[in-house]
Amino acid sequence: MSPAVPLACKVYTPSALASAIVRALGDAPTAQWLEPSVGRGAFVEALALRGVSRSRIRAIDIDRMQQPADRSACTLRGRDFFAWARRTDERFDRIVGNPPFVAFDALTPFLRRSASRAPVPSFARITAGGNYWHAFLCVSLALLKPGGSIGFVLPAAWEYADYGRELRSGVRRHFSSLEVHRCQQPLFDSAKDGSVVVIARGYAAAAAPKHVMHGVHRTRESLIHALNQQRPTNTDVRLISCAARGVEGRRVGDLLRIGIGAVTGDATYFLLTEERRNELQLPRTSVRPVLTKAKQLTASIMNKATWEKLLEGGQRIWLFRPSELNKEHPAVKKYLRLSRQNGGCDRSAFKVRMRAPWYRAHIPCRCDAFLSGMSQSGPWLCLNQMKGLIATNTLYIVSFREQMSLRERCALALTLQTSSVSDQLVDRRRVYPQGLIKFEPRDLLDVRVDVPERVVGARATYAQVTRRLIDRDIAGARELADRWYALAMASHAHRDRVKSCRHP
Ligand SMILES: C[S@@+](CC[C@H](N)C(=O)[O-])C[C@H]1O[C@@H](n2cnc3c(N)ncnc32)[C@H](O)[C@@H]1O
Repeated sequence: MSPAVPLACKVYTPSALASAIVRALGDAPTAQWLEPSVGRGAFVEALALRGVSRSRIRAIDIDRMQQPADRSACTLRGRDFFAWARRTDERFDRIVGNPPFVAFDALTPFLRRSASRAPVPSFARITAGGNYWHAFLCVSLALLKPGGSIGFVLPAAWEYADYGRELRSGVRRHFSSLEVHRCQQPLFDSAKDGSVVVIARGYAAAAAPKHVMHGVHRTRESLIHALNQQRPTNTDVRLISCAARGVEGRRVGDLLRIGIGAVTGDATYFLLTEERRNELQLPRTSVRPVLTKAKQLTASIMNKATWEKLLEGGQRIWLFRPSELNKEHPAVKKYLRLSRQNGGCDRSAFKVRMRAPWYRAHIPCRCDAFLSGMSQSGPWLCLNQMKGLIATNTLYIVSFREQMSLRERCALALTLQTSSVSDQLVDRRRVYPQGLIKFEPRDLLDVRVDVPERVVGARATYAQVTRRLIDRDIAGARELADRWYALAMASHAHRDRVKSCRHP
C-alpha cells in the first residue's frame, strides 16, 4: 500500500500547457526525461506526441492507479519519488512536472521523513516548514545532468516563500538561463491558486552568461503561446524584462543617496504627539514634522494631508528642535529646563552630550523620500511631498541625485518594485524571526535598473503598488509593477522604432 497523499495535491496540468513546457525545453536525440509525479501523464503524452521514445522517459507516481499514458514511458507506479531518488543511479537531461503543492505539515510522517532524507544539491535544503513542491524540485535537481534543463509548474510561492529562498537563489546561480512565467488567470481548471511556470536551462554550465526573464501573461493561452514561441511575444505578454544580470542598467547608487534619519539621543523627550505638544504648550515653530517608524509609511506619497492623519491618529510626529529665536519662548524655556525625573531630557545620553546645543538634533538637509530598512515587503520608497518633513533614524532618508519630476520619481520607485530588482535583492536580504526582512542601504544601491523614460501612469500605478505592499500582497504588487514596466518599456521601444523608420 502506498502512503496516502492529500487529494488536494491531485491537480492535473492541462495538456496544452504540458505540451508547451516540453516544447520550450526542446529535445535532443539521446536526452533522458524525468516526470517525478506523473499523475495522469499530461507531460508523458506531450513527449510521446513529440516523438520521444518510451525508453527515454522515466515517470513515477505514488498513486497505484494505472493510466493510459503509462505505456508511453518507463513508469513506476505506487512508488514514492523520494525513496526512489535515494537509490537510483539514473540521471536526466530534462525534468518536467507539476509537483504536488502540499504543506509539509499536512504529509504523513512517512512521506515527510522520506522527502527529508532524499539527496539535494549543495545549494538547497528541505526544511520542516516548507512545502512538497519545494522538496520535489530540490531532489529533481540532484538528478539533473550538467547542461540539463527543467520545466516546472509551481505555486506563486516560488517567488517569495522563505523556505524557497536558497533554492531560488541556487537556481538563478546554477543555470545559464531562467524564465519565470506568471499568469493573471489560474493555470488550472480545478484550482484557483496563482501558479508560475519556471523554465531553467543549462544546469551547472561553466561560466555561462546569466539570462533572467520574467513574463506576466494576461491569459493562460498567452502564456502557452509564449512558451511555444520559445520567446515572449510582444502582443499579449505584459512584461518582458530580460536582463543579463549585473550588466545592463544604472546602479541605483548613481540615482539615489540613502542616509539615516535624525538621531535624537532621547526619543521619549524629543519625539512628541500633538497632544503632548499642546499639553506642554510648545509653539509649532519649536517643533518639526517628522516620521518616526515604518508603520507611518502609509502611502506612496507622503504629503501634508497624509501626515496630518498620523497627527490626528495620536502618533509621535513632532521633533522638538527649538531655534535660537524661539528658545526664549516661556513654554520652550520651561521644557528645556525640565528635570529628567519630571520628563526632561536625558542629557547624559551619548548623542545628546556630543552635540551643541544639546537640544538641536542634526537633521538631513534633503529628504526626497523615506525608506524602511525592516519590512516584510522589501524596500520601497515613500516619496516626500511635504515641506520640512524629515524622519528619525528608525527610517532611512533618500535624496535623488538628479532633478526629477514627481512622475519620474514614481517611475524609479516603481522600477524598484519589479521582479528583476527583487531578483537582484533576494540574495542580499537578511531574514529575521517572524519573517521580518532587513536590507542595508548598500543592498539597494548596488542593484542595477533600467528606468523607463516613458512614465505615463507611474503615479497612479505606484499608489496601487504601495497599497498592495502595505497589505502584504507582495506577489500582487510585483505583478502590477511588472505590467506597468513592460508597457512603459514596450512603448519606449515602439517610439524608438518609429523614430528610426522616420530617420533611417
Ligand atoms: C499535482 S499532481 C500532478 C500530476 C502531473 N504531474 C500533472 O502535471 O498533471 C501531483 C501528483 O503527484 C503525485 N505524488 C504525490 N506524492 C508523491 C510522491 N511522494 N512520489 C511520487 N508521486 C507523488 C500524486 O499522486 C499526483 O498524481
